Amino acid sequence: MKNIVILISGRGSNMEAIVRACAAEGWPARIAAVISNKPGAAGLDFAAAHGIATAVVDHKAFASREDFDAELQRVIDGFAPDLLVLAGFMRILTPAFTAHYADRMLNIHPSLLPAFTGLHTHQRALEMGCKFVGATVHFVTAELDHGAIVAQAVAPVLDGDDADALAARVLKLEHRMYPSAVRWFVQGQLAVEDGRVRQLAGEAQSFS
Ligand code: GAR
Repeated sequence: MKNIVILISGRGSNMEAIVRACAAEGWPARIAAVISNKPGAAGLDFAAAHGIATAVVDHKAFASREDFDAELQRVIDGFAPDLLVLAGFMRILTPAFTAHYADRMLNIHPSLLPAFTGLHTHQRALEMGCKFVGATVHFVTAELDHGAIVAQAVAPVLDGDDADALAARVLKLEHRMYPSAVRWFVQGQLAVEDGRVRQLAGEAQSFS
């Protein structure tokens, strides 16, 4: 049984999709805890209602990024995680933190990486005249929104779309892709070779 710890900052709909899939599909894993850096994060209520341990480590209570990450790491490690899942966790992480969870930390980012790292991804894609937008699940490294790509989802940009419409279209795909990627990890079906991730059971790593 693998322990999964999920970090959120807000709504937590990806966390919810992972919790539901873990239960419905009988993964060899349990969601050991959901932790937020924001006290009022809506996703905490869903987790608590599903009997999952919750914790808050409020970044505003710490003088530096290093201090915050050290306390976050202490709380996370109290749940003995095999996998740390960032699901809408909106904090930049220190190199010490990313090194501690190297090869066992996943993130979902709302763009087709390596394009549009950082914030406002869909708005920036619209302004660039992109015809497709998407999301990427990747292993987390010290460099923001980099790291080996586990899966990608792609959606078309349609006439009249604004950033919110694109975010909603992509989010539906995120809710299919992220649970799959987490399941692959806990089933031991991911191999990283030369910075490229292969799904060992042959499941498609592209979603649309
Ligand atoms: C998701 O769209 C996720 O891709 C994005 O935030 C949203 C969180 O929604 N993540 C990032 O922007 C990370 N830089 P959720 O809280 O409902 O899962």
